[in-house]
Amino acid sequence: MKARNPARPLTKNPNLLKWVAKMAELTKPAAIHWVDGSQEEYDALCEQMVDAGTFTRLNEKLWPGCYLARSNPDDVARVEDRTFICSLSKNNAGPTNNWVDPFQMRKKLKALFKGCMAGRTMYVLPFSMGPVGSPLSQLGVELTDSPYVVVNMRIMARIGLPVFKEIDKNEKRVVPCMHSVGAPLAKGQSDVPWPCNSEKYIVHFPESREIWSYGSGYGGNALLGKKCFALRIASNMARDEGWMAEHMLILGVEDPKGEKTYVAAAFPSACGKTNFAMLIPPPSLQEKGWKIWTVGDDIAWIKPDANGRLHAINPEAGFFGVAPGTSVKTNPNAMAALSKNTIFTNVGLTPDGGVWWEGMTDTPPAKLIDWRGKKWTPAIAKETGAKAAHPNSRFTAPARQCPTIDPAWEASEGVPISAIIFGGRRASTVPLVYQAFNWSAGVYVGATMGSEMTAAAAGTIGKVRRDPFAMLPFCGYHMGDYFRHWISMQRSLSETPRIFSVNWFRKDADGKFLWPGFSENMRILKWIVDRARGRALAKETPIGWQPRYDEIDWTGSDFTRERFTELQRVDRAAWRTEVIGHEELFIDLHAHLPKEMIYERELLICRL
Ligand code: GTP
Ligand code: SPV
Ligand code: MN
Repeated sequence: MKARNPARPLTKNPNLLKWVAKMAELTKPAAIHWVDGSQEEYDALCEQMVDAGTFTRLNEKLWPGCYLARSNPDDVARVEDRTFICSLSKNNAGPTNNWVDPFQMRKKLKALFKGCMAGRTMYVLPFSMGPVGSPLSQLGVELTDSPYVVVNMRIMARIGLPVFKEIDKNEKRVVPCMHSVGAPLAKGQSDVPWPCNSEKYIVHFPESREIWSYGSGYGGNALLGKKCFALRIASNMARDEGWMAEHMLILGVEDPKGEKTYVAAAFPSACGKTNFAMLIPPPSLQEKGWKIWTVGDDIAWIKPDANGRLHAINPEAGFFGVAPGTSVKTNPNAMAALSKNTIFTNVGLTPDGGVWWEGMTDTPPAKLIDWRGKKWTPAIAKETGAKAAHPNSRFTAPARQCPTIDPAWEASEGVPISAIIFGGRRASTVPLVYQAFNWSAGVYVGATMGSEMTAAAAGTIGKVRRDPFAMLPFCGYHMGDYFRHWISMQRSLSETPRIFSVNWFRKDADGKFLWPGFSENMRILKWIVDRARGRALAKETPIGWQPRYDEIDWTGSDFTRERFTELQRVDRAAWRTEVIGHEELFIDLHAHLPKEMIYERELLICRL
């Protein structure tokens, strides 16, 4: 069979053809490659990256179809301080986003992108966020000079020919996404394994629905369908069109009667979404017939159906999950999902051609090559603190490989959502679980979420920051208007999901986690689902409804009443201080803050 000529356009859409030509004129690539999304193309690109030193092929017997990539040590996470929302008015971006005048920014970008793909191939990568053809899905085309991005996007989204076909129908608007690693090659200049630029720009134009990303090849900076499109641009679409684009996992809880209840949960980056989405109940609850099904682990697009019930889809097709801490003990479903056809980035490479990261096994390998490409042993680690894997190292794995993937995960109408959970990483103050009194109180809980910072973004790790709805780095417009959108969503609903707060991370006086987490979270989730279905009791507290010890199913657990009481304690003094923290955020958002938030805060203060 004669190989396809990748330079031949795969669309007849005149707008797309014109735009590609214009961008090629600007960026001056050596070649253009129209991405068909086939396995052959994927294999060839991986092979090419193995030759270039970007990829290491893993041991085919142990890790079939898997590769390891090591990034430049300065390109390891999202760069929030280099992320911009360039709305026409600064007021629309709000105080929580970086804003630059769009005309100025366009000028800057034009200069940066001029000739930036020299010596490289520009890939024309069409993608659908959500199942191809679903009324809830959206289309994009990413022009990128990174083959790493192309192969990762093939796992994370639906790409290639079927998407070109959708675009050619000319019905849906297509979001143009420009991406360059910002490392043009002069004639004869040899490439490096991970090209990138120390100057980085992750730019969104919300009104024209455009994304321009420069200088980084890593994760959310470069896989533009994910945070840039599915959250920052989509949150703008959602506000205008009456739906919601959220940083949430989606899971289904099957009860002993075989009935399923779907739940969406917003936790900030590296705070447990992937783990929760793939939860395996403790054996005692499995025996009773409880089972968890996974729909998505990071992003949810949620829309009222014709009957006024919220339905959600996972716009992604893969998991870009945190590697460290993932093990057969903590998350066997993730381990199964990543066992083949997976791309690992910035983890350790073992002598037998396998991968390892901190927490994968109790005993580390005797030696390996760490994420920087250096020799690593447990002794070296002890002496220098060097990590085998970067704390934000990741696996890119196909969602369909997850053993608990829900049969309805690609349903074009989505799954009905009965409960929404907000959770952060809080060492103190916030109890294990409580239910908000009603929708607006629940919106207040989401709006005032706080969390300790993690390695998922550049910044001070461990510092508590306000992270409303886990959307602080991802909301593409004014956060106050986003709260208002949440409040107003209630009006289009015949039934509102119940809203809950959880905190798996509360610590005791010695700094140890009070709650075992992971599997054990099922006991809390069971209460949440039972509440949503009106079959569990709760007691009123100043902050919301809390389960009593006896309302949690403790079968097979020896967790004590005393510890539970400690975990659930609502310390009025600590909460008064907490509310002052809420106030700080509210002052910033003042002019756009819905009055419901002020009233909820006043009521909370009165109850305290
Ligand atoms: P992003 O992909 O960045 O959005 O992260 P995520 O929210 O999907 O977080 P993930 O599930 O990957 O978990 C991140 C870290 O939290 C890992 O180190 C986990 O081991 C840890 N973690 C997850 N669930 C729990 C839990 O219930 N208890 C404790 N103590 N740690 C947890
Ligand atoms: C997050 O940081 O929330 C992630 C990883 O899910 S990234 O895709 O890099 O944004
Ligand atoms: Mn995330």
